Amino acid sequence: MKRIRLGVNIDHVATVRNARGENYPSPLRAALLAQKNGADSVTIHLREDRRHINENDLKKIKNKIKIPLNLEIAATKEMLRIATKSRPPFICIVPEKRKEITTEGGLNLNHNRPFLKKLINNLKKRKIRISLFIEPNLKDINEAKNLNADCIEIHTGKICNLINMNKSFTNELKRIKKAVKEGNKLGLEVHAGHGLTFKSAQILKRIKGIEEFNIGHFLIGESIFEGMSSVIKTFKKILKS
Ligand code: PXP
Repeated sequence: MKRIRLGVNIDHVATVRNARGENYPSPLRAALLAQKNGADSVTIHLREDRRHINENDLKKIKNKIKIPLNLEIAATKEMLRIATKSRPPFICIVPEKRKEITTEGGLNLNHNRPFLKKLINNLKKRKIRISLFIEPNLKDINEAKNLNADCIEIHTGKICNLINMNKSFTNELKRIKKAVKEGNKLGLEVHAGHGLTFKSAQILKRIKGIEEFNIGHFLIGESIFEGMSSVIKTFKKILKS
């Protein structure tokens, strides 16, 4: 079976930093650690409200990492300007609502389609790989192809929620399998992301034709438990004498 690439989303390192208005924990340090530990790419979402990653993070991370940076942006004039200036190797276009806690669904490809087309064409001219974050439905996948995207990223939020709540996920799994097949048939590279945990990644990795997973919230959350012992030991050492 082909190895699935792992994109590590480090937005929530910035969420923790911003909660205290400090300059730590550093998203750049997290990006470098992801790289050191075999991540295939680093994903960051520059939101309109800058609730986690900001432009300074984007600049620093883009300049310092050697693996590709995957920048998630909404289809807006501001983001087109920033992306054109920054020129990350990968861009994933995502929907964005100010009031949402996280990206709640896939893109509506018919909303402001002329601008979406312009944005994709402009960025592709700069040799940036373009991915569209969409729901696993055949209409959107065909639309993504028409829009000249290189990749689609399938929103796995729904299936991951079902798996988490121990509910039946057979229908959603079927929908995703069909979507992956359609994407592959059209020559699109297929990625998946949102809500992935150890358990859901185990299930979804069995679908043939997915090349990349982008994982953030669970990965950063789990890292707290993986790293806490070592940090406590360091403090105990400092406080010993
Ligand atoms: N892929 C995309 C396009 C996203 O918008 C997100 C969330 O920012 C992710 C993957 C990662 O989702 P999670 O943080 O739930 O792992």
